[in-house]
Amino acid sequence: MNIISSPAEVRAMVREWRRQGLSVGLVPTMGYLHEGHKSLIVRAVAENDRVVVSDFVNPIQFAPNEDLASYPRDIEADARLCREAGASLIFHPEPSDMYAPDFSTFVDMKGLSENLCGRTRPTHFRGVCTVVSKLFNIVTPDRAYFGRKDAQQLAIIRRMVRDLDFGIEIIGCPIVREADGLAKSSRNTYLSPEQRSAATVLSRAAALGLGMMEDGERDAAKVLGAMRSLIEDEPLARIDYVSMVDFDSLQDVERADRPVLCAMAVYFGKTRLIDNFVFEG
Ligand code: PAF
Repeated sequence: MNIISSPAEVRAMVREWRRQGLSVGLVPTMGYLHEGHKSLIVRAVAENDRVVVSDFVNPIQFAPNEDLASYPRDIEADARLCREAGASLIFHPEPSDMYAPDFSTFVDMKGLSENLCGRTRPTHFRGVCTVVSKLFNIVTPDRAYFGRKDAQQLAIIRRMVRDLDFGIEIIGCPIVREADGLAKSSRNTYLSPEQRSAATVLSRAAALGLGMMEDGERDAAKVLGAMRSLIEDEPLARIDYVSMVDFDSLQDVERADRPVLCAMAVYFGKTRLIDNFVFEG
């Protein structure tokens, strides 16, 4: 399994695979891979002849006050995990391989990117859409794999692929959790032991909300109120948002009378974690 930093070399490799009639899957990541990423790679390997894992901490999706400099990186461990999972190639560019000094073209989406994480991270999804477009253009995959933990990102990428005719199948994969329920995330490594145990409140709030809805509650204010109270009882947790939105438009709903996404972002110290569940009714 090769680790390649040059977009031109990745293109050449994919061109050769195409010449042999092979299908190609892409798993876009920012590295520091965990079991959640591994599940995406394993699925991609099962469904494609060749799998490219991109491993790139994309500077343009971080705001100046965010954790770009401290974002964890470990390409050797990433390579081991990719090899074990059966990936064919890691694309690991430097920022200068991806962005010319006078780079000035962005993919910006209205609507879907404005609610939820877009409220506190207004430039984030522009950075995500731009880098994912570049990855799609470089790798030209048949299929690309994304985790459902980043539910808003997944919805935005599906929309982008539709709107810009990328012709790539987007596959959303289930959230992978620690034994105590915390969703796997590279950012979990920032947590102190106290914050790590406090962070289980996210999955407990999700289970509470889902349980209420399975018992028939459809009033968003009641469900969200109960989830917020549970989180507020945890002294180390500070809520960014706890929202119920229409699954397609990502606009807030008052009643869960259609498929909805219940999504939350909560700070533990400076670390912001997200989690969600979907209720189809
Ligand atoms: O989900 C992520 O890790 C990133 O947002 C992505 C999709 C790899 C783009 O940098």
